[in-house]
Amino acid sequence: MWDRTAAAYERRHAAVLRRDGGAAWGTFRISERRLRLLGNVRGKDVLELGCGSAGWSIALTHAGARVVGLDFSPVRLAQASARMRATRVRFPLVVARAEAIPFPDARFDIVLSDFGATTFTDPYRTVPEVARVLRAGGLFVFAHSSPLRSLTQDARNDRQTRRLMRDYFGLHELRDRYSVEFQLPYGEWIRLFARCGLSVLSLIEPAAPRTRRTTYFTARDQEWARHWPVESIWQLRRSQDSQRPHRSRQSVGRRPATARRR
Ligand SMILES: C[S@@+](CC[C@H](N)C(=O)[O-])C[C@H]1O[C@@H](n2cnc3c(N)ncnc32)[C@H](O)[C@@H]1O
Repeated sequence: MWDRTAAAYERRHAAVLRRDGGAAWGTFRISERRLRLLGNVRGKDVLELGCGSAGWSIALTHAGARVVGLDFSPVRLAQASARMRATRVRFPLVVARAEAIPFPDARFDIVLSDFGATTFTDPYRTVPEVARVLRAGGLFVFAHSSPLRSLTQDARNDRQTRRLMRDYFGLHELRDRYSVEFQLPYGEWIRLFARCGLSVLSLIEPAAPRTRRTTYFTARDQEWARHWPVESIWQLRRSQDSQRPHRSRQSVGRRPATARRR
């Protein structure tokens, strides 16, 4: 799907994604300069998980980080290469799945994903993998849809509603005609993080800006997102002393039953 839709995705979102030089979070592109979730990246080893055309990776390379961009779509990585040439930066791009990161334990200081692979992969597989490749004290920051968005989304018509459209308990795999996304109830996210040795530093739930339009939502859904959180930006720290999480899901969490759609 990502190979097939890569060109259309770039045409539609490139201008918004390049605001603030690419270092901005979520569908409303809130600047890292304002949120300061990654700290000083100079000299840090950084992995962008599901980097797409690598706007974040390019910005962080300019800021002095040693970055690796990972994505499982060769077409998206070709877009990243083109952007690297245009912006005169170089860093490794890796074709791989976020559920099996091809790097040794404790290789990175920071892992980030901005509606990247974390949105589209099972957190029971991806979160332990991220914890495995993070050094003690390292940061994992990712932007994701909020549970409330998942609960109130009319998936058939791809719009937000004021009704609860599915069960909260058992939130996990959300499939539509084109794609699959993942979501967990808040308590389940926090238990999964804890089992992987990740502590929550911050959970940011930005309200949609009043004026600046995003290409990710209709005007109607952007208005919805002025009242309720449409996205969650999690900032987590890998603990200094906890044991490395085991790869298998059994060791990190029980998969909840899939939530029923109403
Ligand atoms: C919505 S894009 C976001 C990327 C980037 N932040 C951007 O906006 O261009 C999601 C990216 O995640 C990648 N992705 C999805 N599932 C993945 C997986 N299992 N492993 C690695 N990358 C994945 C897709 O190929 C796509 O490039």
